[in-house]
Amino acid sequence: MRLLVTGGAGFIGSHFVKRMLAASDDVVILDKFTYAGNPANLPAESECYRGDIAVQEDVEQIGAVDAIVNFAAETHVDRSIHGPEDFVRTDVLGTLVLLQLARELSARFVQVSTDEVYGDIEPGWSSREDDRLRPSSPYSASKAGGDLQVLAAVRTFGVNASVTRGSNTYGPNQYPEKVLPLFTTNALDGEPLPLYGDGRQVRDWLHVEDHCAGIELVLREGQPGDVYNVAANEEHENVELTNLVIDHLGVDRSLIRNVDDRPGHDRRYSLDTTKLRALGWTPRREWEDGVRATIDWYRDNRDWWEPIKRSDGFREFYERQYAARLAT
Ligand code: NAD
Ligand code: TYD
Repeated sequence: MRLLVTGGAGFIGSHFVKRMLAASDDVVILDKFTYAGNPANLPAESECYRGDIAVQEDVEQIGAVDAIVNFAAETHVDRSIHGPEDFVRTDVLGTLVLLQLARELSARFVQVSTDEVYGDIEPGWSSREDDRLRPSSPYSASKAGGDLQVLAAVRTFGVNASVTRGSNTYGPNQYPEKVLPLFTTNALDGEPLPLYGDGRQVRDWLHVEDHCAGIELVLREGQPGDVYNVAANEEHENVELTNLVIDHLGVDRSLIRNVDDRPGHDRRYSLDTTKLRALGWTPRREWEDGVRATIDWYRDNRDWWEPIKRSDGFREFYERQYAARLAT
């Protein structure tokens, strides 16, 4: 199978590329190399094109493929609050351009989406694939728009496409704007950990390898027009994750700073994964063990994250996002 992986230089996409190369698939990557795309994430032997999924000529340079898995996206909720335009362009328009390619090539298509499209959910309940979409942030609204374009392309044009909706994912190589790598690297540098609001928000955590296994299964066995939730049902409050970082690294709890909340902050995510489990998927990584291993990876791989955190682009983002919050 010749497989196009878009966003393959990002966090989850790069793990997926390694997984598919190990399965001896012929993999080609298309990535715009935004701030989140990192050549250091790519295996040496990978075939990679620089290009924008929202630009038809960039997408057409790839030539024929049998399948497309779309990881390319603007992904950070806080950045979407500051500037949603890039999110709509990549996450909605970019998805549409890729669907046109899949249609022309009669290629299988998998859209990598997120639990955030369901919005938050009351304790005791879990979101199912046919639940109403109630996105809260410009990021999740853009991802929901991409999902709906995929489902419309199946119905109208017969594109062989499925959607995965994964939960909060952790593991090596995640850009240090997301909570676990940010808090880990800040703790390693003796910097404060800015916990939004009361820190009691719940996320359903999933190891990147388990997430990739779920996406691969949907690629190979998912039904056209079907959506599949991917989660390990490991629900933990942010304060619990924060305490694990502090305790594992043996740093002082006074580094935790309760700061102003994120506007529109979703309180709790939880996914019902009955459908994917019925296909044979089951998560392998236990949460505390997986988080500790991830913290160790950041401790042992400063050469991966230090250049990012010292870059002008990251410093500007950090200043805009946290300076006022940490000053009060
Ligand atoms: P990431 O931000 O680490 O990587 C995104 C990649 O997409 C980068 O390599 C970037 O350069 C590339 N990209 C961005 N815009 C592009 C464009 N216009 N054209 C081509 N490439 C472009 O993201 P991630 O965390 O690896 O997430 C990958 C996918 O998984 C996203 O679609 C995201 O919505 C979804 N997802 C992520 C999580 C999570 O917790 N990280 C959970 C569920 C779903
Ligand atoms: P994040 O990693 O940004 O993922 P998402 O918003 O997609 O769930 O955030 C995970 C949780 O951590 C979320 O509830 C917000 C919280 N958080 C903080 O408390 N402080 C921070 O500095 C960040 C980045 C996130």
